[in-house]
Parts: sequence; structure tokens; C-alpha cells
Amino acid sequence: MKEIINKIEAALATYLKPETTPHTVADAMAYSTLGGGKRVRAFLTLTFCALCGKKMEQALPYACAVEMIHAYSLIHDDLPCMDDDDLRRGKASCHKEFGEANALLAGDGLLTKAFSVAASSFLSPSQNIRAIQVLSHFAGVEGMILGQEMDLAYEGKKVSTKELLQMDRLKTGALLKASCLLGVIAGNGGEREEKAALDYGENMGLAFQIVDDILDFTGEEAVLGKPVGSDKENQKSTYVTILGLEEAKKSADLYTKKALDALQIFGEEGKPLAEYTRCLLNRDR
Ligand code: IPE
Ligand code: IPE
Ligand code: MG
Ligand code: MG
Ligand code: MG
Repeated sequence: MKEIINKIEAALATYLKPETTPHTVADAMAYSTLGGGKRVRAFLTLTFCALCGKKMEQALPYACAVEMIHAYSLIHDDLPCMDDDDLRRGKASCHKEFGEANALLAGDGLLTKAFSVAASSFLSPSQNIRAIQVLSHFAGVEGMILGQEMDLAYEGKKVSTKELLQMDRLKTGALLKASCLLGVIAGNGGEREEKAALDYGENMGLAFQIVDDILDFTGEEAVLGKPVGSDKENQKSTYVTILGLEEAKKSADLYTKKALDALQIFGEEGKPLAEYTRCLLNRDR
């Protein structure tokens, strides 16, 4: 795992290397992307590529693209007009360090760069085009952005379980699903692998956001690296605030099991990813 994470960190650092002339927004992009984060999305991209029988390195540009989009989403998510959080990955949020306008631009910069990184991968042009389509669909206005819109609209509202599910599926599940699918595209997988990636991503994505909601309630700021109690303060509608801790834990368990079922087609080869998925359920950050 450590070896894989190191590869991701090194690749991200080459894409976001410091500018020779002073450039605040470029510094902010590097500040918020490098040296922090669990790299779950990149790890999934590389792992699914390997599950398709190819070398995981060939998925590195797509893995970096998806981490850049994720980093942008976190910068914007922390802004005062969204969740208004001052701590991210154990350090000051981007807007606290660089100011709101630069944080906004750093997010824009990362989103834009992600597409150029995916487009210039050494895979075939048709793979790159598909990767770009997948990224823009799942991160875009029918995907993550719609989920973030729902998250804000549901503040202070008593929403149904169905609405919660749809919000989490979009704001978090969509990009995780894209991460898995990008791995299959990089690994030249077939329909069977694509279906498994989507099914796995859908369910692990739901479990992942529910655990995030649980950690917002039960976590320790020093370990989590972001504020605890932010959801309650913002009157967010989450599995924990609406359904309670016990129901949230049961749901995270259920979706993790469903995600594990989706890995069955990979047999023994899928075991390490299954183990990783179980670890995510019990994470503390
Ligand atoms: C946090 O994602 C935001 C969600 C979508 C739940 P991560 O928990 O993957 O954050 P990092 O990348 O490890 O900081
Ligand atoms: C964020 O959900 C989802 C995104 C698309 C960024 P949260 O608002 O719960 O994420 P954290 O807890 O701030 O990381
Ligand atoms: Mg949020
Ligand atoms: Mg937030
Ligand atoms: Mg959260």
C-alpha cells in the first residue's frame, strides 16, 4: 500500500511542481493537493487497472486527475459560502492560508488541470477521451456538483432516507465510482469489469460518506485533520443527524457488504481490495 501511495504522491508532485516565478494560485493548488489525504480515489483507479490484468502505473495520470478534482472539491467545500471550515488535512484550509479569491481560483485551476493531465496520458486517444467523459460526467452538474447543491439545499431540513441516499450517491459516490471506472478504462477492461467497478463504487461510496458523517460526530480533530461537529453546526442533513449514530453504522455496514459482493467476480485477486474496503469502514480519519 505504502509503495502505491508513494507512486501517487510522486506523480502528483511532478504535475504540481512549484513555479519558478512567484505564483500564489499555483502555490495554493500544490498546498491543498500535496502531502495529505488518504488517496482513496487514486488507489481505487490503480487497483481496478491492476484487476483488469494491466500494470497499475499506466493508470497514474487518471488517478492524479481524479485526486486533483477531489482536492478542488475540498477547497470549495471548505469556503465560507459552503461548509465554512478552517481546517483541512491537518492544516489551515486553502482560503485561510491564501484568501478566498485565491482558494476559488486554486479550485478552478485544479479542475482545469485534471482534464489536461487525463488528456495527455500515454494511453490511446480513445481511452483518454473516454476518461475525460467519465470525469466530466461524474464530477459535473449531473454528479458531484448536483450532490453538493443538494447538501446545501438540505441544510436545516428534515429530509427522507431516500433523499439522503441520493445526495450521498452524488456528492461523494459519483467521484468514487468514476475513480473505479477510470481504472477499468486504463486497464482495457470489458463490460464485466466495468459493471463491477460501478457497482463497487456505488456502494463503497455510500458507505464512505456515511462513515465520514459518523466521524464528524465521533472523531477526534487531531486525528481527523478537519473540524469535528461541523455538520451539526451547519445543520446538515446526514445519516447521523437525521437517523442517529446506530442507524448510520448499520447502513455503513450494509453498503460495505454490498461493495464486497461486487468484488466477487475478481476471485482471489479481489481479496486485497476487499480488505482495504473493510479497513475504510473502521477508519479514524
Ligand atoms: C472527504 O474525502 C470528503 C468526502 C467526500 C467524504 P476523503 O476522506 O477522501 O478526504 P482525504 O482526501 O483523505 O483528505
Ligand atoms: C464533501 O462532504 C463532499 C464533497 C464533494 C467535497 P463533506 O462536506 O462531509 O466533506 P468533509 O467532511 O468536509 O471532508
Ligand atoms: Mg460539504
Ligand atoms: Mg465539508
Ligand atoms: Mg463530512
